[in-house]
Amino acid sequence: MARSLIKLAFLSCFCLSTLLFSHASDSILPNQSLPDGKFFVSSNGTFEMGFFSPDNSKKRFFGIWYKVISTGTVVWVANRDSPLNDTSGALTLTQDGNLIVLNTANGNVLWSSRFNYTSSIRNPVAQLLESGNLVIRDENDENPGNFLWQSFDHPSDTALPGMKMGKNLVTGLNRVLRSWKTSDDPSTGNYSFLLDSHGFPQFLLMGSGSVERFRSGPWNGKALSGTPRPNENMIYTFEFVFNQEEIYYTIQLINSSIFSRQVLSPTGILQRFSWNYRTQAWTTLTNSPADICDNYGICHGYGICDISINPVCSCLDKFKPQSEKDWASADWSGGCVRKTPLNCKNDGFVKYSGVKLPDTRNSWYNLSMNLEECEKMCLKDCYCMAYANIDIRGKGSGCLLWFEDLMDIKNRGESGQDIYISFQRTKG
Ligand SMILES: *[C@@H]1O[C@H](CO)[C@@H](O)[C@H](O)[C@H]1NC(C)=O
Ligand SMILES: *[C@@H]1O[C@H](CO)[C@@H](O)[C@H](O)[C@H]1NC(C)=O
Ligand SMILES: *[C@@H]1O[C@H](CO)[C@@H](O)[C@H](O)[C@H]1NC(C)=O
Ligand SMILES: *[C@@H]1O[C@H](CO)[C@@H](O)[C@H](O)[C@H]1NC(C)=O
Ligand SMILES: *[C@@H]1O[C@H](CO)[C@@H](O)[C@H](O)[C@H]1NC(C)=O
Ligand SMILES: *[C@@H]1O[C@H](CO)[C@@H](O)[C@H](O)[C@H]1NC(C)=O
Ligand SMILES: *[C@@H]1O[C@H](CO)[C@@H](O)[C@H](O)[C@H]1NC(C)=O
Repeated sequence: MARSLIKLAFLSCFCLSTLLFSHASDSILPNQSLPDGKFFVSSNGTFEMGFFSPDNSKKRFFGIWYKVISTGTVVWVANRDSPLNDTSGALTLTQDGNLIVLNTANGNVLWSSRFNYTSSIRNPVAQLLESGNLVIRDENDENPGNFLWQSFDHPSDTALPGMKMGKNLVTGLNRVLRSWKTSDDPSTGNYSFLLDSHGFPQFLLMGSGSVERFRSGPWNGKALSGTPRPNENMIYTFEFVFNQEEIYYTIQLINSSIFSRQVLSPTGILQRFSWNYRTQAWTTLTNSPADICDNYGICHGYGICDISINPVCSCLDKFKPQSEKDWASADWSGGCVRKTPLNCKNDGFVKYSGVKLPDTRNSWYNLSMNLEECEKMCLKDCYCMAYANIDIRGKGSGCLLWFEDLMDIKNRGESGQDIYISFQRTKG
């Protein structure tokens, strides 16, 4: 095989250069540039990077896509909000370790990795890894912990296996997925998906104008409370990490040939796909929001959404619609209110099982408290609206307390968990 390639190469100089090029190039050195029309391929040929135009578009973007699969799905775009109008673009690594996309016709820099760091290194190299991660590192240092910059820390609309979706609490880096404007236009669209760490951490899918669209729910040891349990498939393993330094989830492929990716679509749906070799297309594994009850806060404060009931919204036990008239016409915007206000003397708790826990943005938590301590803690505070275990594995552990109106509760049946909601035991 190697010999026939060499023989072929001698047939023409052009052939020689392209063969050498496509064989050796996954890295770019200082002062080298990758012009429009040339490509770099990761070591085993899974990903490719270069300039491309989306379908029905003439604009030129620098990006990374799957090379091994027929659809060439794009997973990352550098200059998404400053495209070129012609093929005069090039990617260059500067002497001090900064990747830039520039317009060679006029020298304008359209995108720079330096937007997000200021340090430099002596012998920089930029390399497209087999994972689809484009990294800037020291030539002699392959330790991921020492990468100067990596595209996995600055995603476009796609999370790939090995990428940490979430936040570095030390540096403040939050990896946010941002949708494309349309399927033909990678420029920043209306939707974003990110970790929110006000209160107990959860992921939020936001629409334009910072309107919540979907909430993953907090991690409960088995799943993000509002999403399908992730570890019951043959395609990838799911890991959630929550410590002093980092909060993120990541997936690893079980078979490195069975690709999977998570994408925030231009219409605001967070989708996970896996590649189907037989149909040569992506199979949808999950969609979020998946149903009407996944629309953030559809039943408003103290409402609970149940997809198996029509209409879907009802008030929690011991609560009543704020406006019976609106509620009767399926206008849930007023939400529900207590039938009897809390009086801080003889309050108790109603237990709900099988729910997606409410919005945790104003919650308080302690990972080591047990359920009894948690109840005591909640009883002590007149503004405590509910409590729940954080981790539902085994006997359960941890304490989560809510101090604001309970928003975005969904009945999830067997996939849900328990919550205890405060009410006044006797009419006052
Ligand atoms: C890159 O270009 C600069 C300016 O022309 C030059 O000073 C430097 O030596 C070059 N570096 C390498 C590694 O070729
Ligand atoms: C590349 O492929 C070889 C052979 O299949 C495999 O042993 C190696 O682990 C792969 N490398 C990467 C980075 O995936
Ligand atoms: C591309 O064309 C648009 C519209 O004419 C212009 O606003 C933009 O500056 C051009 N971009 C570049 C990189 O030349
Ligand atoms: C750089 O970081 C800022 C603030 O964290 C962020 O708004 C911006 O999108 C980042 N830029 C890139 C190219 O990732
Ligand atoms: C991985 O998936 C590929 C493609 O379906 C298949 O050919 C291969 O046998 C699988 N490898 C393992 C170890 O299951
Ligand atoms: C994005 O938001 C704009 C303005 O709110 C709206 O006109 C447009 O239809 C939205 N696009 C999508 C795909 O939702
Ligand atoms: C969490 O609860 C444990 C057990 O009650 C206690 O020892 C610890 O100080 C609490 N931690 C915080 C941060 O409140």
